[in-house]
Amino acid sequence: MILVTGGAGFIGANFVLDWLAQSDEAVLNVDKLTYAGNLNNLSTLQDDRRHVFVRADICDQDAIAALLNKYQPRAVVHFAAESHVDRSIHGPRDFINTNINGTFSLLEAARAYWSGLPDQKQRDFRFLHVSTDEVYGSLGADDAPFTETTAYAPNSPYSASKAASDHLVRSYHHTYGLPTLTTNCSNNYGPYHFPEKLIPLIIANARAGKPLPIYGDGQQVRDWLYVGDHCAAIRRVLESGKPGEVYNVGGWNEKANLDVVHVLCDMLDQMDPKQSGSYRDQITFVADRPGHDRRYAIDARKIERELGWKPSETFDSGIRKTVEWYLAHQEWVGDVQSGEYLKWVEKNYNQRTAEKEAT
Ligand code: NAD
Ligand code: TYD
Repeated sequence: MILVTGGAGFIGANFVLDWLAQSDEAVLNVDKLTYAGNLNNLSTLQDDRRHVFVRADICDQDAIAALLNKYQPRAVVHFAAESHVDRSIHGPRDFINTNINGTFSLLEAARAYWSGLPDQKQRDFRFLHVSTDEVYGSLGADDAPFTETTAYAPNSPYSASKAASDHLVRSYHHTYGLPTLTTNCSNNYGPYHFPEKLIPLIIANARAGKPLPIYGDGQQVRDWLYVGDHCAAIRRVLESGKPGEVYNVGGWNEKANLDVVHVLCDMLDQMDPKQSGSYRDQITFVADRPGHDRRYAIDARKIERELGWKPSETFDSGIRKTVEWYLAHQEWVGDVQSGEYLKWVEKNYNQRTAEKEAT
């Protein structure tokens, strides 16, 4: 079996569902179930014996060590993290704890387990660390996209904590020989995306008749990748990636935030029209994110050249699937918009609106 951390979150849950749809190899899913972890994402696996869920914190090295020894996985796929930049600005501590200390504890547990494996199993073992393009910092409009050798220059507590975890993973390969793999991926979107992030937030707010908040001038550029394509890339790297290597994963889909929001509004105008007017009328410019990175872009040629992976969705096909999914899963959206979610929305957006009005 494989051990997945953070498999109740957005990408982790998509990965577990995809994995079990394509293979009979069991998954041990270890997740702390923070506000971002949601077992409803995995409800279709309720009676599936190939999926074993354990609620545990990756910072708890003894608990992880016991799980590794009990289940003897052939690989660890590490998604668990605090993942939202805005939350990292309001409260960086959880990011340091989980992303840095948690990855460290997980690496220590994995190293001890791996060292005790018989030769062939030791050679076949993999520790795949799922990371982000944000570790490379911000690009100017004319800069070349990030490659695997671009120098790290993280700008938010989130990206700094992910950068630190990438460095730890690198060092465990270099120093101890742990067979690690690292993927640095661009912005994902798709089903089960928690509505604190841009795309699901815009869909949820649009339908609720609420403002669609655009930070600053809305001209920040992100490279968007459909989550199913990211899952396929991770499977590919796990299968054929070379230990110690880093693979950038991206969608070749650079878009300015305002353009993404326009696409979503126009799609909703078609698929779920308002009684009068367009969803674009709800667009509201709010105060910018402090330290907001201007542009991310990924050069994903290495993974295509060496492992034969490239995205199968265009932005148009992926975003259409995503909007359709949200329209068909309004109950899921309602369930995650709980007390904690409402508190976050109040904290993040009331202040921004007030700041914008004051300028
Ligand atoms: P998410 O916030 O939706 O999910 C994170 C999951 O990790 C949740 O289920 C949460 O309960 C769990 N978790 C958090 N702290 C934990 C801990 N201490 N112990 C065990 N479990 C814990 O995140 P996501 O968007 O699915 O991102 C998954 C990974 O992919 C992260 O490492 C993130 O940095 C990386 N990534 C995300 C994106 C993106 O666009 N979302 C892009 C590139 C890379
Ligand atoms: P987000 O989904 O938080 O991902 P990240 O910060 O990791 O790229 O944000 C994507 C972009 O959208 C980012 O440039 C910030 C912007 N944004 C808004 O303009 N308004 C919002 O309400 C949110 C959540 C994000």
